[in-house]
Amino acid sequence: MTGDAVTELPDADGLVEPEAIGGPDHPMRRVTREVAFEAGWSSGRAAKVAELFDSMAPEWKAPNVDGVKAAPVVDAIERGGIDPVGRWIELGSGTGAGSQVLVEHLDGGDLDLVTLDLSAQMLANAPALAPKVRADASRLPFPDDAADVVLAINMLLFPGEVDRILAPGGALLWVNTLGDRTPIHLPPADVLDALPGSWRALTARAGSGFWAVVRRADDA
Ligand SMILES: C[S@@+](CC[C@H](N)C(=O)[O-])C[C@H]1O[C@@H](n2cnc3c(N)ncnc32)[C@H](O)[C@@H]1O
Repeated sequence: MTGDAVTELPDADGLVEPEAIGGPDHPMRRVTREVAFEAGWSSGRAAKVAELFDSMAPEWKAPNVDGVKAAPVVDAIERGGIDPVGRWIELGSGTGAGSQVLVEHLDGGDLDLVTLDLSAQMLANAPALAPKVRADASRLPFPDDAADVVLAINMLLFPGEVDRILAPGGALLWVNTLGDRTPIHLPPADVLDALPGSWRALTARAGSGFWAVVRRADDA
């Protein structure tokens, strides 16, 4: 896959500098790349990651979503051709930032969203806006083609499972809310490289991060 498969839109209005909490030396960077490119996931790693996020859940920002964090998802819906109506599955949903953004955006409209996380405590701290599933995204408890949109905000990429559950014509909405400062960060070109087969991405910076709408290259 080449950089030609990534199309960049102009920046959204109102970009802000990301908090300086992550960056290339963050320990989660290595984990992120190993999971995406080397199938570097194991039950031991799953237990450690679940423990880490269980321990962080009480302090995880409440309500954990403001206009800056919401901006990439909102901008992707407005300019990225992502349909808010459809079967959404959010992986690594944490304390519910994604579901809050979607509910506000739909403004009372129907939301067909299932949220999933490895950490019981993160899920416990999420508002009850959508069904919550505690599971490991390396082995998703969903059938093939179950989602029209797979949402991943600051989440590890499990390429085979995303490909499996994404229906024909569907899209992965990949969001890093702190851009390349996000501890769990992959740029759009690397997301395309990691996924099996041929994909393309539309991307833009928004808020303090970016979004990428990633579709199979042969989908219309
Ligand atoms: C950085 S947090 C992001 C949470 C949320 N998306 C947000 O932006 O506020 C990453 C989340 O992914 C979850 N996670 C990590 N590995 C996972 C896996 N293998 N399966 C499911 N969830 C996982 C963690 O428990 C954590 O809640």
